[in-house]
Amino acid sequence: MTAPKASTRAMAPNPTAGDGGSAHAAATVPVVAVDGPAASGKGTIAEGVAAVLRFHRLDSGALYRLVAWRALESATPLDDAPALAALARLDARFDADRVTAGGHDVTAALRGEDVSAAASRVAVHPAVRAALTERQRAFRRPPGLVADGRDMGTVIFPDARLKVFVTASPAERAARRHKQLIAKGISVTLESLLREIEARDARDAGRSAAPLAAAPDAVTLDTTGVAPGASIAAVLELCRARGIEPARE
Ligand code: CDP
Repeated sequence: MTAPKASTRAMAPNPTAGDGGSAHAAATVPVVAVDGPAASGKGTIAEGVAAVLRFHRLDSGALYRLVAWRALESATPLDDAPALAALARLDARFDADRVTAGGHDVTAALRGEDVSAAASRVAVHPAVRAALTERQRAFRRPPGLVADGRDMGTVIFPDARLKVFVTASPAERAARRHKQLIAKGISVTLESLLREIEARDARDAGRSAAPLAAAPDAVTLDTTGVAPGASIAAVLELCRARGIEPARE
C-alpha cells in the first residue's frame, strides 16, 4: 500500500506544549483510535484507513519497539525503568514507513520477535509510558490522525472521534504474523509465535499501567476470517457515520 501524502511524520517535540491556543486547535483534530492485541490486524487497518482519509498515522507500537531495541543494543536491563525512560526520550524520526534512530534505518530491526517480546516488557513501566505520552499526542495534526496500539482510545486520545478494538483468534493472529515475518525473510515457527503472542497478550492485558483493554465506548471488530480490505471498509463506514470524511487533496 502506498503511504498517504499526509503520513510524513517526524518525532518532533510536542508542537502544542506550552501553547494553550494551538493545544486547543489540536484537540479539535479528529482521531481514529485502533487498539487491539498482538497481530490482530490493527496496523494494516490503521494504514489502510489513514491512506483513504489522507490522515497522519501513528504506529505507537514502533515507539515501544524502539525503546526495546535501544535497550537490547545497549544491554540496558529491561527492569531498569529510569534508564529505559531516558532511552525513550532520545530523538528519532518516523518518516512514512521508515524509522531512523542515531542516523540508522532501524525499520526492519524493530520487527524482530526479540524486539516484540522486549517491547512488551519495557511497556509495563509507567515512567516509559509517561516519557512517550506527549510524543504520541504530537502526531495529532490536521487534517486528522489514525493511531494504533493498546491504549490509544483509553489513555492517549480519550476524546478520539472513533475508537475501534480489533480482535482475532490467537491461532489466526499467529498465522498472520508468521506470514509477515516469513515474507521479510525472518525464520520463525508457528508454534513459537503462538506462544510468544499469548505471553505478550497476557503481559499487556495484565499490567497496571494502561493495560490492553477496549475503551467503554469502543466498537469491537473481530477480524477472524475477514480479509483486510473488508475490515478497512468496515472502519471507513464507522468513520463516515461519525462525520469523519477524507481530507481534500
Ligand atoms: O504489531 P504488534 O501488535 O505485534 O505489536 P506492536 O503494536 O508493535 O506493540 C509492541 C508492544 O508494545 C506491545 O506488545 C505492547 O506491550 C507495547 N505497546 C504498548 O504498550 N502500548 C501501545 N500503545 C503500543 C504498543
